[in-house]
Amino acid sequence: MSSSALPDFQRFRPLRSNAEVRSQNAETRLDGSEFVYPMFVINGENRREPVPSMPGIARLSVDEAMAEAETALTVGINRFLFFGIPDEKDATGSKAWSPEEAVQRTVSELRKGFPEALAITDVCMCEYTDHGHCGKLTENSEVDNDATLPLLASAAVSHADAGAQVVAPSAMMDGQVAAIRTALDDAGHRDVKILGYSAKYASAFYGPFRDAADSTPSFGDRRSYQMATSQRVEAMNEIEADIAEGADYIMVKPALAYLDVITHAKAQFPERPLYAYNVSGEFSMIHAAAENGWIDLKNTVLEVLLSIKRAGADNIISYFSIDATRWIKGDSQ
Ligand code: PBG
Repeated sequence: MSSSALPDFQRFRPLRSNAEVRSQNAETRLDGSEFVYPMFVINGENRREPVPSMPGIARLSVDEAMAEAETALTVGINRFLFFGIPDEKDATGSKAWSPEEAVQRTVSELRKGFPEALAITDVCMCEYTDHGHCGKLTENSEVDNDATLPLLASAAVSHADAGAQVVAPSAMMDGQVAAIRTALDDAGHRDVKILGYSAKYASAFYGPFRDAADSTPSFGDRRSYQMATSQRVEAMNEIEADIAEGADYIMVKPALAYLDVITHAKAQFPERPLYAYNVSGEFSMIHAAAENGWIDLKNTVLEVLLSIKRAGADNIISYFSIDATRWIKGDSQ
C-alpha cells in the first residue's frame, strides 16, 4: 500500500519534509523570552574568577557583572538571577543582609544602568554561612527552621531596598515565603514579587554550583530540608503551600531529572508562572561530554531546553541562556 492512500491523520512525514513545514507544525518553541540568566557576584573590582567546573561561567565583581548583563541584554535577555558570594562567611551568614555586599550593589547598579532589566535575587544562607548550610544551626548542629526565617526576611528586604523586583527564597525552610512576604510589606515593598523555589530537591546536580559559591556543607547534607527525589505529590503540596503563603511565581528545581514534576505542576497550577531551574550539573555534564566530542553542544542544549519548555515550564533559569538565545536567533530551523 502506498502512503498516499493513507488518511491524513496517519501521514506524518509530509509534516516533517522541510524546515518550513517543521517550523509551522511545531507544538512548542523556544524564542529566547523564556530565559533567566543566573550570575555569581563577588566584591571588589575587575574580578573575573572562572568556575573550573562550569565552562564559560565566572564569579564576577559588580563592574564585570554589568558588562555581562550588557552582553545578555544585547542578545535579548533582560532577566537575571543573582547569587552573592561574600569574602567572609560566619555562623549566621550575616553578610546576607549587608547593603555593601555584591548582590545588593549589583542590583542597584543594574537598575540604574539598565532600566529594562529585571533583577531576581536568590535568598538563602548557604552562600554566607561558614558551615555551608541554608540556615542557622541549633546547638545540636541541626538547621533551625524558625530561627532562620527572620534572617531570610532580612536578606530579602535588603535585596528589595537595593532595587530587586523579585526575591527568590531557596532555603527550603517551612514558612519562608510567608515570613518574607510580611517583612517586605512591612518595609513598604508591596510591589516586590516572590518566586518560591517551591519544589527544590536534594540533588547531586548542584555540585558545580557549590564549587562556584563555595557552599558545600562542611558536615552532613541538605536532606533534612530539601525534598527527596522520590516525592511528586509532596512537590505539589510544597507548591500549594508557597502559593497560600503569597508566592507570585513557583519553581521546580532541578529541571531535567524532574520533567514529570514540571508537567504536574503546570497541570495543577496552570495560572501560576512556572519556572524550571536548569541547574549547574545539567550545564556541566553537557559541556563535559561536548568537550570530549561525545555529543554536539548546540543541538544537545537546544534539545534539553526545549524539553523543559515542552514539559510545561514557562520560564527557564539557565547558564546556557546567552548561548541558547544566540543559537535560536541565528538559526530558526
Ligand atoms: C542555594 C541554591 C543552590 C542552588 C540554587 N540556590 C545550591 C544548593 O541548594 O545547594 C543550585 C543551583 C545550581 O546548581 O545551579 N540554596
